[in-house]
This record gives sequence, C-alpha cells and structure tokens, in this order.
Amino acid sequence: MKLLQLDASALSQGSHTKTLTHYFHQAWSKAGFDTIEQVDFAQNPPPHMTEPMIGAYFTRPEKRSDEQKQTLALSDHYLNQLKAADVLLIGSPMYNFTIASTLKAWLDHIMRVGEAFVYTENGPQGLLENKRAVVITASGGDYTQPPMDAMDFNGTYLKTALAFIGIEDVTVIQLPSMAADEATQNAGEEKARKQVDEWLANFG
Ligand SMILES: Cc1cc2nc3c(=O)[nH]c(=O)nc-3n(C[C@H](O)[C@H](O)[C@H](O)COP(=O)(O)O)c2cc1C
Repeated sequence: MKLLQLDASALSQGSHTKTLTHYFHQAWSKAGFDTIEQVDFAQNPPPHMTEPMIGAYFTRPEKRSDEQKQTLALSDHYLNQLKAADVLLIGSPMYNFTIASTLKAWLDHIMRVGEAFVYTENGPQGLLENKRAVVITASGGDYTQPPMDAMDFNGTYLKTALAFIGIEDVTVIQLPSMAADEATQNAGEEKARKQVDEWLANFG
C-alpha cells in the first residue's frame, strides 16, 4: 500500500495541517503500510501553468516534439507519483477561502486530458480509479456550519476536482477555528486525530 502525502502549508513550523498529516503518516507506518512518498510544496512549489505547457497538453503524445516532451517532464513525474499511490493524503490550509496556489498549480499539472480523465459520449470520465483520498483542511475561522459553509472553497473544491479525475472516495477532516485560543485549537486537533484513527481502522 502506497501513500502519497502532499503538504501545501507555506509554514515550516506551527502548521496545523502538517501536524495532522504527520500524525496520519506515523499512524500509517504503525499500521504496517510502509511506503510513503512526501512532497512539501513550500520546499518544492510546482511552477504555474505556461503557454508551452498548454500547447503540450493538447498535442497528441505521438505528435509531441522533444521540447514538448521536456515541457511535460514535471507533469509526467507528478502524474506517475499519483498513479502509483493507493491513498492520497493532502494537507490543505485555507488561504483566502480556497486552497493554496501551490496545490492549485499541482492540480494544473496532473489534471491532464488523456491521462487523468477522458471525454466520452456520456461526458467526462476520470481515469484514476481505485484510489482513496484524505484531505486535512485548516482555517482560521469556522466554516463547518451554514451560512459560513458557503464560503468554504477548500475541501469542497478538492472533492470536486478529485472526483473529476476518478478519485471519488474522499474524506475531508476539518480543523476549524485555528485562529481561536489554544484550548480550541488543541480540541480541534484531538478530534481530527480521532478521525484519522477511525479512517485507518476502517482501511484495508
Ligand atoms: C495568506 C493566508 C490567507 C488566509 N485566509 C484565510 C481565510 O480565508 N479564511 C480563514 O478562516 N483563515 C484564513 N487563513 C488562516 C489559515 O487558514 C490558518 O492559519 C490555517 O491554520 C493554515 O493552515 P496551516 O496551519 O497548516 O498553515 C489564512 C492564512 C494565510 C496565511
């Protein structure tokens, strides 16, 4: 069983999402699922989309020039990492109501027609099947209840994007109110740790 862990928090210290992805990762190893690949987008941010990338995406593989193949090398690398994973773990802080721009850039690299999805007579179809995802989100405020939930484009957005490429089994574990007092933060992290434990207990 292979875990691909993506951390999108820009923080190297004091990140709530990283605290929980780290907890997940340790519990994963303790449970005997030993293969883990980690990518920290703060250390290695995926570059933004460029015009040559778009040109290469929409050129059939057999027609791509050597330069276009080179343009797609990082995208291919990210896709291969994802294709090899059984479980995708994403630590996703809320930045301005949505995901970090680094995580969005990663999605732009992997959501490639012909690789991650295809268009069929019945509409788009995801190709990355038989994978599960756990998304750990954190926000300063609390977006878990109406009317605030309508402003949360973090976990909801990731669920939509992942379902589009075939990853429909997505569990979102939320860390709300991380700008509140320490007791509230600790209680939120404790609740999230229990959700991780439950997820892993049911996995296999
Ligand atoms: C640039 C930036 C934008 C943020 N935007 C929001 C926001 O729109 N809503 C919110 O509730 N919290 C917002 N926050 C707070 C973060 O979501 C919160 O600190 C969270 O814990 C970040 O995850 P991390 O601890 O893993 O870094 C923002 C923080 C930063 C640095």
